[in-house]
Amino acid sequence: MDLSQSAVWSALAAHKQEIEHLHIRELFQQEGDRFDRFSIQWGELLLDYSKNRITPRTMELLVDLARSVELEKKRDEMFEGAPINSTEKRAVLHTALRRPSGYSLEVDGLDLSSEIADVLAQMKECCERVISGSWKGYTGKRMTDVVNIGIGGSDLGPCMVTEALRSFAHGHLQVHFVSNIDGTHISETLKKLNPETTLFVIASKTFTTQETLTNAMSAREWFLTHATEKSHIAKHFVAVSTNRSKVVEFGIDEANMFRFWEWVGGRYSLWSSIGLSIALFLGFDHFQELLNGAYAMDEHFRHAPLEGNIPVLLALLGVWYNNFFDVSSHAVIPYDQYLHRFPAYLQQLDMESNGKRVNKQGNTVTYATGPVIWGEPGTNSQHAFFQLLHQSPNFIPADFIVPLKTQNPAGEHHDILLANCFAQTEALMKGKNEQEVRQELEAAGMEPSELEALLPHKVFPGNRPTNTLLFNELNPSALGSLIALYEHKVFVQGVIWGVNSFDQWGVELGKQLAKAIFPEIQGDERVCSHDSSTNALINAYREFKQRVKQH
Ligand code: F6P
Repeated sequence: MDLSQSAVWSALAAHKQEIEHLHIRELFQQEGDRFDRFSIQWGELLLDYSKNRITPRTMELLVDLARSVELEKKRDEMFEGAPINSTEKRAVLHTALRRPSGYSLEVDGLDLSSEIADVLAQMKECCERVISGSWKGYTGKRMTDVVNIGIGGSDLGPCMVTEALRSFAHGHLQVHFVSNIDGTHISETLKKLNPETTLFVIASKTFTTQETLTNAMSAREWFLTHATEKSHIAKHFVAVSTNRSKVVEFGIDEANMFRFWEWVGGRYSLWSSIGLSIALFLGFDHFQELLNGAYAMDEHFRHAPLEGNIPVLLALLGVWYNNFFDVSSHAVIPYDQYLHRFPAYLQQLDMESNGKRVNKQGNTVTYATGPVIWGEPGTNSQHAFFQLLHQSPNFIPADFIVPLKTQNPAGEHHDILLANCFAQTEALMKGKNEQEVRQELEAAGMEPSELEALLPHKVFPGNRPTNTLLFNELNPSALGSLIALYEHKVFVQGVIWGVNSFDQWGVELGKQLAKAIFPEIQGDERVCSHDSSTNALINAYREFKQRVKQH
C-alpha cells in the first residue's frame, strides 16, 4: 500500500492540523518538564529535541509510523547481511567494519570477521611503517606527506574526519586531498610537495572513476618526471579498491593494494581501507577508536527501543517536517571549526542515499523524500544565512552540533561560541512578537510613526525547530558515534520512504553525457547533435580554445 494512503500517515496529517497553531514557546510555558521529556542522555552525548513542534502524541504517531514499515525488522536485516541494496543485489554491511572481530557472518562465501581483521592488520602495519619512517621513498627518505586521491565517498569521509580530528594527529605526516577533476586541485597540491617524501593513496571503490584516475595519472606523471624509474612507483603509490585487476592495470603493485568489498557503499566506506589516509594521519589507534565509537552507536541503534533511539528520533523528526510541513531543507550547524567539512560530508551521505523518486518496487513515490542538506559552522553561519532561518516565510529545521570542550582554549572564545549557539536555538524557538518589539522600541524612545514602520521588520515569528547534540569532546570515539548516528538516521528515513538508500543511479546520466561531449569538445567539427543550448555552450568553448590557439 502507498505509504501516504496508510492509516498512520492520515493520522499524522490530521494531527499536524490540530497542533499547527501551537507555538513551541507556549509549550515550554505549559510543560515544566518538556526538556526532560524530549531529551536523551546516551553516554556523553545529549540529544535535546524539546525545541520541536511536537507533543507527546506527535512522537507516539511517528513511532507508530516507524513500526508500520517494520523498521526493527529491516534494521536487523541490514545488520545480518540481507541483500537490501536491491538494485545492485548487495548486502549493506559497513556496520561489520567496526564490529569487534570474532563474530560469525558470511557474505559471498567469505567470513567477514577474519577478512576485515586481515585488512585492518595490513593497514596497521602500513601506518606503523610510514609513521615510524621505516617506509622509505626512492631516495631513502621517510614520508612527510600523504595525498589521498579520490572523490565522493572516497574523499569526503576521510577529508572530513582528518579535518575534524586534526588536533589528534601525531604530527609526523601532513595529509592532502585531491578530488576535483579541475586541474587546479592537483596542481596546487603538487606545488607544495616533494616527490621524494610523498605517498599517494589512490582511493576508488571501482577504480574506474574518471576524476580519480585522471588525477592519479597526473600524480604519476609528476612523480616520474622527478623519480624517472617506474620501479620507484611501488614506494610512493598505494591503492584502496575493490577492483584488483584495474589497480594492477594502473601500475600499482598488488602488495600495495588495500582491499574492501562490494557490500561497503562508497558513502559508507570511511570505516574500510578507504580510511587509510585517516589512519596514516591520526595513527592506527585513533582510527580504531573511531571504529569503536561507531560500533557503540550501532549497538544503541540496534537495541534501544524506538522511543529512546537517537537516530530513529532524529529521522522521525525529519520526516515530520519533510512530509507534513512541506519543508524540503535541513540545516546542520556545527559549533566547532574542526567540523567545517561535516555538512559537506552529510550532503553525500543523505542526498545520495535518499534523493530518490521511486520506491524499492520501482513505483513513483507520492510524497517528498530526502531533503536538501546544507550548513556551515557557527558562528560564521550566523553572519551569513541565519537571517533567513529567523525571518523567512517558511521555516528550516536545523541540527546544532556542539562539543563542550574546546581543543584550543583561548581566553573567552569558547564561552562566547557556546553562548551564541544556545542563544540561536532559543531565538529560533521563542522569536520576538509584536508586543515585545513595540515595548523595546518605545523604551528606546522611538517616534510612534517611525516605530510603526519599523515594527514588522523587527518581529521574529519563532516556532522554528532545532535539535541540539551536545557531547564532551570531539575525539575519535565521539566522532565515530556522531557519523554512525547520521548514517542510521538516513537509513531509518530510507526505510520509511521505502526507497533504496544504497544505490545512486542518479549520478550516471551526467557521467554518460560527459563521455559523449568530451570527444566533441576535442573534435574539429562544429557541434550540432544536442539541443540548441548545449550545442551553443560546447561551441562557445571550442571557439574560445581555437582563438587562444591562434594567438
Ligand atoms: O558519484 C557517484 C559515486 O559512485 C559515489 O557514490 C562514490 O562515492 C564516488 O562516485 C566515487 O566512486 P569510487 O570510489 O568508485 O571512485
